[in-house]
Amino acid sequence: MTILVTGGAGFIGSHASVELLEKGYDIVVVDNLSNSEIDSINRVKEITGKDFPFYQYDLLDYESLKKLFASYNFDAVMHFAGLKAVGESVEIPLEYYHNNITGTINLCNVMKEFGVKKLVFSSSATVYGNPDQVPIDETFPLSVTNPYGRTKLMIEEILQDLYKSDQSWRITILRYFNPIGAHESGRIGESPKGIPNNLMPYITQVAIGKRKKLQVFGNDYETYDGTGVRDYIHVVDLVKGHLSALQYLDEHEGIETFNLGTGTGYSVLDLISNFSEVTTKEIPYEIVGRRSGDIGICYANPEKAEKILGWRAEKDLIEMCKDSWKWQLNNPNGYQ
Ligand code: NAD
Ligand code: UD1
Repeated sequence: MTILVTGGAGFIGSHASVELLEKGYDIVVVDNLSNSEIDSINRVKEITGKDFPFYQYDLLDYESLKKLFASYNFDAVMHFAGLKAVGESVEIPLEYYHNNITGTINLCNVMKEFGVKKLVFSSSATVYGNPDQVPIDETFPLSVTNPYGRTKLMIEEILQDLYKSDQSWRITILRYFNPIGAHESGRIGESPKGIPNNLMPYITQVAIGKRKKLQVFGNDYETYDGTGVRDYIHVVDLVKGHLSALQYLDEHEGIETFNLGTGTGYSVLDLISNFSEVTTKEIPYEIVGRRSGDIGICYANPEKAEKILGWRAEKDLIEMCKDSWKWQLNNPNGYQ
């Protein structure tokens, strides 16, 4: 079985590539390296001891995609490629709509042209907006507050329409909660460019001395300690969910949406204290005002994925902290 991995040089795509190779799949990776480094590809080869083709193509370049599909017989596509920074998406919305939506439409068009109709798509819990209650299941109402989130919701809707128009497609939409952690080897991980937007990479950069202190965005939420609560999930668990989804597509027709989360929420202060415990590093922090657009509490009901895909997250917060730290310690400047 040959799987095309789009965005395979990125944080989640590189971990998915390792998992696919280790489970015996052949892969071909395409990435324009707009938010990643070629080194991650080399390290996936090093970890797995397996070689695979990599193409530095942009999904916006339809002719290159056609060439690619003409050269391989893909069985399915895992589609990670996309821009993902919420703040940036507010600054440059047209780039986000063009890249994420046109990129996905190009991909689906070329898949259609070559009769490849199995797709695993990376969506986000951001499509639930500010939910009325937790845990969040897949039937909750959807709403978004920023262009990035809107691209995810629009793509979900496009995929639903695509399936309605041609029921030979087999599609899984995976809504990720908060992926953190890294491969246990410490050779691949999240390598944000510039100041990290997300909590865990910020914490690891404070721990290694690249940043002075963490700003905790708000302690007046209706949560047990007032700070934001999220469903952190180890990236290796997350990508295992993709392999379960792939297997599901082999056996089932249709389009299905799944939450990929652990079902447990932790606060910002929980993350800081667990991280400090694992690494024996103090994380200096100050409480500041809420970040615009943030919500108080968000965690998954992951039962659908367990029941239908037979997948469940296994790794706990300690392992997530340990692996995030190992990656940061071994690679103080990420891949750069
Ligand atoms: P990432 O930025 O590390 O990886 C995305 C990859 O896609 C990058 O390597 C980038 O260079 C590539 N890319 C972007 N646009 C492209 C294009 N037009 N053509 C070819 N390659 C392109 O991000 P990630 O954290 O690995 O996320 C992967 C996917 O999961 C994204 O779609 C993201 O929106 C989604 N997601 C991520 C999170 C998260 O917290 N990391 C949460 C929910 C959903
Ligand atoms: C982010 C994305 C969201 C995406 C989700 C899952 C933003 C604004 N939103 O949200 O679209 O779906 O990841 O990947 O990027 N925090 C601090 N200090 C910091 C950073 C974060 O206190 O320096 C807090 C936040 O307020 C939040 C928690 O830490 O309570 C987690 O933040 P973050 O890692 O950015 O994830 P999300 O807010 O869930």
